[in-house]
Amino acid sequence: MKRTILITGSTDGIGKATAEALVDQGHTVLIHGRNQSKLDTAKAELSKRNASAGIQAYAADLSDFAQVEQFASTVLNKHRSIDVLINNAGVFKVPNKTADNGIDIRFVVNTLAPYLITQRLLECLGASGRVINLSSAAQAPVDIAALGEANRLSDDQAYAQSKLALTMWSRQLADILGEQGPAIIAVNPASFLGSNMVKEAYGTQGKDLQIGVDILVKASLSDDFSSANGLYFDNDKGAFSNPHPDALNATKNKAVLERVEEILARY
Ligand SMILES: NC(=O)c1ccc[n+]([C@@H]2O[C@H](COP(=O)([O-])OP(=O)(O)OC[C@H]3O[C@@H](n4cnc5c(N)ncnc54)[C@H](OP(=O)(O)O)[C@@H]3O)[C@@H](O)[C@H]2O)c1
Repeated sequence: MKRTILITGSTDGIGKATAEALVDQGHTVLIHGRNQSKLDTAKAELSKRNASAGIQAYAADLSDFAQVEQFASTVLNKHRSIDVLINNAGVFKVPNKTADNGIDIRFVVNTLAPYLITQRLLECLGASGRVINLSSAAQAPVDIAALGEANRLSDDQAYAQSKLALTMWSRQLADILGEQGPAIIAVNPASFLGSNMVKEAYGTQGKDLQIGVDILVKASLSDDFSSANGLYFDNDKGAFSNPHPDALNATKNKAVLERVEEILARY
């Protein structure tokens, strides 16, 4: 069946390669990026692969909550129904570590923006939809105060905390929405895949991006993931697995989700 799939951060890396794979399979892919010229290029390349795929492209800098809101409302206006949202856009080591709103950009792009997008798109995802959140093997206990601030954490800590916070709200939101909401699944696409993020952070070519693509395509489409609401898939192990123990603690998950909502309510 042909699906409509929105992928954030699909101008490069795993997101772009996943868009290519899904377009090749005939799905309608909605791409997103922060850089208009990269977005135009990606749209042209994808359209060339499959002229009937009806690629649509959305520009928004996810470090800016106003742009996130605008992005979500434009998508909502255009689509009554979306089958899969892949919250893929992410940042690790960046020259400018603080977003204009004064919060560490890793928390803004990796944790807070995906939550806002998910909340805004719930009505068009419905109970049969899926939300795939790009987690990581890098997961560190979340400093609740640092989640809404800047300059408190090293790059490694900011990234690992942002990814555990994403994993924690995924499970908590899945529990809250239950069968009324989409399946919300956190996925580590595998470690050290050869994207710009990995090349720039570790100076290594990294592993084949296709490893991440294959699991995101499976998470989006396969029945194996249809009853995975609230679970964590670890592609380093090739299996559903336990995330960091904090993400199995309902009290801690609730605290993270409440903090996320409190921060977003300020903007
Ligand atoms: N690679 C790995 O081994 C690995 C392992 C675990 C998890 N992950 C996760 O997988 C996801 C994809 O990462 P990747 O490795 O493919 O990295 P990547 O090549 O750097 O791609 C990241 C994507 O996110 C976009 N992006 C970054 N900041 C943004 C912002 N402020 N607003 C909008 N879009 C923004 C980038 O846009 P531009 O094209 O403009 O740069 C790009 O399209 C990330 O969430 C990452 O944390 C990756």
